[in-house]
Amino acid sequence: MPADPDAGDALEQPDAPHPPPPHGVDPTRPRAADWVVTTDIVFPHHANTMGTLFGGRALELLDINAAIACYRFARRTVVTASTEAIDFRAPVHVGEIVEVRSRVAWAGRTSMIVRGELVGENPRTGERRLATIGHISFVALDDDERPIPVPPLLVETAEQRRHHAIGERVREHIGSRRAHDPLEDV
Ligand SMILES: CC(C)(COP(=O)(O)OP(=O)(O)OC[C@H]1O[C@@H](n2cnc3c(N)ncnc32)[C@H](O)[C@@H]1OP(=O)(O)O)[C@@H](O)C(=O)NCCC(=O)NCCS
Repeated sequence: MPADPDAGDALEQPDAPHPPPPHGVDPTRPRAADWVVTTDIVFPHHANTMGTLFGGRALELLDINAAIACYRFARRTVVTASTEAIDFRAPVHVGEIVEVRSRVAWAGRTSMIVRGELVGENPRTGERRLATIGHISFVALDDDERPIPVPPLLVETAEQRRHHAIGERVREHIGSRRAHDPLEDV
């Protein structure tokens, strides 16, 4: 409710010690990340010439899902900064269910590394297989499109610790790649 200027001191509420920022997430407070899971069907127009999910479509699904994981974690605009190693381990066939799962595995100052998994599922038998797995990194941006801090990531469970350790190695790869292959002006 807006403050009433005529109400007098007695009705004034004390200031909250740490008022939440407008976007709702305090970037100084550690925060847990949740899995984002979306489920779809592989249609023929998403297939390659072998009748299985086209790699580019798999990347699109992973990128969108991972971006949502970052939005929910940082509550900021985010952009994809890099796609890291992505392994296509098994095919997903036309007509099968495709489940995409993403979670922020590692968070830096302004960047996040998301673990993405894509599972293929036979709709009739229920057989499921891990088809694709990889990492994508994102950077949070302010309204002027400059990198802005994200909250520290809470890492609590054994699985989160394992994924965080992998994320840390991914971050090292990014760092060494950027150091050895700096961007050149065109
Ligand atoms: C990603 C981007 C915002 C980084 O901007 P920048 O000014 O180079 O950023 P900085 O050098 O200040 O680094 C900011 C953070 O981004 C990370 N970063 C920068 N380039 C990166 C890359 N190629 N891969 C992964 N992380 C990267 C840095 O490590 C740093 O992380 P930290 O704060 O957690 O330590 C900028 O390069 C960009 O806008 N790229 C285009 C994004 C895009 O169009 N994506 C596709 C559509 S969504």
